[in-house]
Amino acid sequence: MAKYRIAWLPGDGIGVEVLEAAEVVFEKLRLDAEYPVGDIGWKFWRKEGDPLPPRTIELLKHVDAALFGAVTSKPVKAANAELVPELQGKTLVYRSPIVRMRQLFDLYTCLRPCKAYPENALNFKEGIDLVVFRENTEDLYAGVEFGPVPRELADLFGKSAKSFAPFASLAPDDYAISCKINTRAGSERIVRAAFEFARKFHRKKVTVVHKANVVRASDGLFLDAAKSVAAQFPDIAMDDANIDAITMWLLKNPFNYDVLVAPNLYGDIISDLCAQMVGGLGFGCSANIGETLAVFEPTHGSAPKYAGQYKVNPIATILAVKMMLEWLGETDKAQSVQGAVAEVIREGKVRTYDMGGRNSTIEMAIAIAAKL
Ligand code: NAI
Ligand code: MG
Repeated sequence: MAKYRIAWLPGDGIGVEVLEAAEVVFEKLRLDAEYPVGDIGWKFWRKEGDPLPPRTIELLKHVDAALFGAVTSKPVKAANAELVPELQGKTLVYRSPIVRMRQLFDLYTCLRPCKAYPENALNFKEGIDLVVFRENTEDLYAGVEFGPVPRELADLFGKSAKSFAPFASLAPDDYAISCKINTRAGSERIVRAAFEFARKFHRKKVTVVHKANVVRASDGLFLDAAKSVAAQFPDIAMDDANIDAITMWLLKNPFNYDVLVAPNLYGDIISDLCAQMVGGLGFGCSANIGETLAVFEPTHGSAPKYAGQYKVNPIATILAVKMMLEWLGETDKAQSVQGAVAEVIREGKVRTYDMGGRNSTIEMAIAIAAKL
């Protein structure tokens, strides 16, 4: 039996292509692992009414880690319209399989390192090295949503909050409610993960991102929880910033920041911003980490515009492989993947379209594998 079992989840569109690129790297690495393939994504929604079929959930219960490409998600109406005729008219509700996977397996830490590899022409500034910790299971992604809004809920809001009064007269389907739910335990554990990371990797500061001056209840709780965790790490500085202000400050002076931690949606936003500062979505990698399982992925989606063309950049995915190797304890292999990526970027000979080149997804993977 192999030492590791790694679930292989290509998904849709370019997800399939970047995982083929990852395969090229794994072949060269000769990791003692097997790679069972899991079904996930749009085609399984269309055919089976479930983009994360039970067999995939079962598979994920019996692996050490998973590598995920990307899936296509569409709004509710479009999603239902694309179901095969046999499933039309059934009350099926599309939910993003990656969001579900994060919640089902309690993958509460979303870790997104954004490092500017030297001499990448796409770097916003040389030397950027930011790490985003995004809470991955709660907040506006909790999935507690109402549209149309049930009468009981409307009555409750009408009674409990004067500021809500203008909505009380609306028809149920003329408004919608998405609940932002943040728990103290959920907030504390993500902040703790950020501080533990900072301590382990000798980072100087953790910045807590929120909007507690307006979203007083839920972000107020997040900030409060963050402060109580920070008190346990006197060796690491902590500051905090509003989500709107931080987007501006990050652009103005990214070197003032180090590790950032945020509730789910704000974390999603700043990680795209930080990814763009180090080359864009072709370079943004991500780990979804729980107590027993971790799922690694590029941050980008399925990019339907480029699907089937083998032209997108696989570096984001290959850096996700590096994170996976680190998580598995294969530190030497992780270092060698990172070194190979850095060298290929620095040489600038093999470049995908986003880097101003004409090389294919697979050519990039081969170039990186050749340096291993
Ligand atoms: P996207 O990330 O798929 O692509 C946006 C654009 O970014 C692309 O058109 C391309 O210009 C660029 N890009 C993305 N990946 C790249 C790469 N590896 N190399 C070079 N350039 C790259 O976002 P979009 O178009 O908003 O969403 C497409 C689909 O993906 C949607 O159905 C969306 O729901 C889904 N999605 C899935 C995610 C996931 O599976 N984790 C995350 C984000 C979106
Ligand atoms: Mg995103």
